[in-house]
Amino acid sequence: MSDFALDWLRLREPADLAARSPALARSFAATLPRPLRIADLGSGSGANARALMPRIGAEQDWILIDRDRALIAAQEPEFTHWARRQGYPVLAGGGRIAITVGAARWTAASMPLDLMSNLAALDRLDIHAVTAAAFFDLVSAEWLTRFVDVLARRRLPLLAVLTVDGVRDWLPVHDDDAIVAAAFRHHQARDKGFGAALGGAAADALDQCLVDRGFAVSAASSAWRLGKNDRLLLSALVDGEAGAACEAAPEQTDVITAWRAARQATLADGGLALTVGHRDILALPG
Ligand SMILES: C[S@@+](CC[C@H](N)C(=O)[O-])C[C@H]1O[C@@H](n2cnc3c(N)ncnc32)[C@H](O)[C@@H]1O
Repeated sequence: MSDFALDWLRLREPADLAARSPALARSFAATLPRPLRIADLGSGSGANARALMPRIGAEQDWILIDRDRALIAAQEPEFTHWARRQGYPVLAGGGRIAITVGAARWTAASMPLDLMSNLAALDRLDIHAVTAAAFFDLVSAEWLTRFVDVLARRRLPLLAVLTVDGVRDWLPVHDDDAIVAAAFRHHQARDKGFGAALGGAAADALDQCLVDRGFAVSAASSAWRLGKNDRLLLSALVDGEAGAACEAAPEQTDVITAWRAARQATLADGGLALTVGHRDILALPG
């Protein structure tokens, strides 16, 4: 059973692509050696590598790390589909993907790994840089410190994109937004496998931890601003927020169920909007 369904990751991939900071991705790409070896944490189906490969352009070898075997298994078909859509020749098999773009080869290798119990395996990788997308809200403050210690000791640059910053504003406002939001925040802070999760505090915590270890940190907003063209994603977010809120505050189930129905009705009328705050963070060793 996956914590993150492939369908959900597919649904969010275009919104993520539109929200990312191109300027930070360019600055990151400009600092990297070629050929490049790079690891992506909590890769899911590999959306972050697909977004960054064309920005980096040259010869590059990715290691796609995730603990979820179903998502690891989805990486080959998702990359193959993506590469064919872009018109890039692609070979995939045995957990390896090789894409040819002009004179360059972009490769990706799947690595099943639980980063909580085996951060040392990341430390042993022969890599030049680390990336992650939509990952750091899941980790604890304690794990974050251990991870940034590894980056600092190895002098590895990090591009962490789409980290939630706690902003979640629905429009129009609803009388019970505050009740649902409080329960949802409570759920976000539950243990997701790393101890108490940072949730909406993740962007600030990551930024501070990197500054404290002497990294030069640049940040940019990568918020989702969703409206009438994002019906499927909005519908999933209404259901997801209501479901998480009910789990965290079962005594409020009636209120949350009514909130969900009202939000879905507003969405059906084309009048629902949502801002979800995210931050992209680029950290370069000082
Ligand atoms: C929100 S998803 C983001 C996936 C991908 N980065 C993207 O942007 O589509 C978080 C990912 O972190 C992975 N993850 C969660 N806990 C993990 C752990 N302890 N070790 C490795 N991966 C983990 C999940 O399996 C999931 O694929």
